[in-house]
Amino acid sequence: MNIILQATARDAALLTARLLAKALRDRPALVLGLATGRTMEEVYAHLVRMHRTEKLNFSLCRTFNLDEYAGLPADHPSSYRAYMEHHLFRHINIDPRNTHLPDGMADDLNAEADHYEAKIRVCGGIDVQLLGIGSNGHIGFNEPLSALQSRTRVTALTPATRTQNAAMFGGKAQRVPARALTMGVGTILEARRCLLLATGPAKAEILAQAVEGPLTAMVTASALQLHPCCTVIADESAGARLQNQTYYRWLFANDPEWADFRTVQKKRPVRGMQP
Ligand code: F6R
Repeated sequence: MNIILQATARDAALLTARLLAKALRDRPALVLGLATGRTMEEVYAHLVRMHRTEKLNFSLCRTFNLDEYAGLPADHPSSYRAYMEHHLFRHINIDPRNTHLPDGMADDLNAEADHYEAKIRVCGGIDVQLLGIGSNGHIGFNEPLSALQSRTRVTALTPATRTQNAAMFGGKAQRVPARALTMGVGTILEARRCLLLATGPAKAEILAQAVEGPLTAMVTASALQLHPCCTVIADESAGARLQNQTYYRWLFANDPEWADFRTVQKKRPVRGMQP
């Protein structure tokens, strides 16, 4: 796991967008796993800007979102499909047929979950999976105690998650659907690369548990410790509870892998570490 700490949420979102843009330029037919939520809004704003000003080309890209609420039609303003259209899809040159979210209105949600997995397989698997982290440590809607080998399925949302997401439902947690379809932890771990973005002080404690704590189904993001190619990007406030910040900063400042990405945060001596 690589941890990259950035000064501000803005810098963290920009770096995330730059990493995604590089992956897309390197492989135009990229299979991109997407997340929703407040953290991602700025990432998508950067991707839209890069499409407009830097000709970032999505014409061959295929996308798979992590999750969708059960029982919400795609055109419901609080659906994740509506979120994706609003923040990204309608502003870029992606073929709508190449954008995939689970169908929360399917008659048979279990069959829909299996079908979603099959579609990912047909596309050759996910190249890069973008992730946020919930206040209870979830990735996708893999709530605490989701099996670390779980697959795409229907799941019940915890009160904590319904409260976290209430803003999209008039501030009322009871209006947030009680169930959702989500990629499983096992599905996410099969992506060739994972990129998790966390910003803001509310994520500090849970991010430290996920990254430096024990591997546990109580914090499903901790399963990313098993992933061979996972990058976590956090701003100062989300990274504030991490124990090994000096080491993470030193690595980012010195590892040749990140040479092209240091312009956001200029290389500078890190206290306590030799360059
Ligand atoms: C959304 C998703 C969730 C969010 C997480 C953080 O598709 O999969 O895991 O990434 O709940 O949400 P925000 O960014 O709103 O704090």
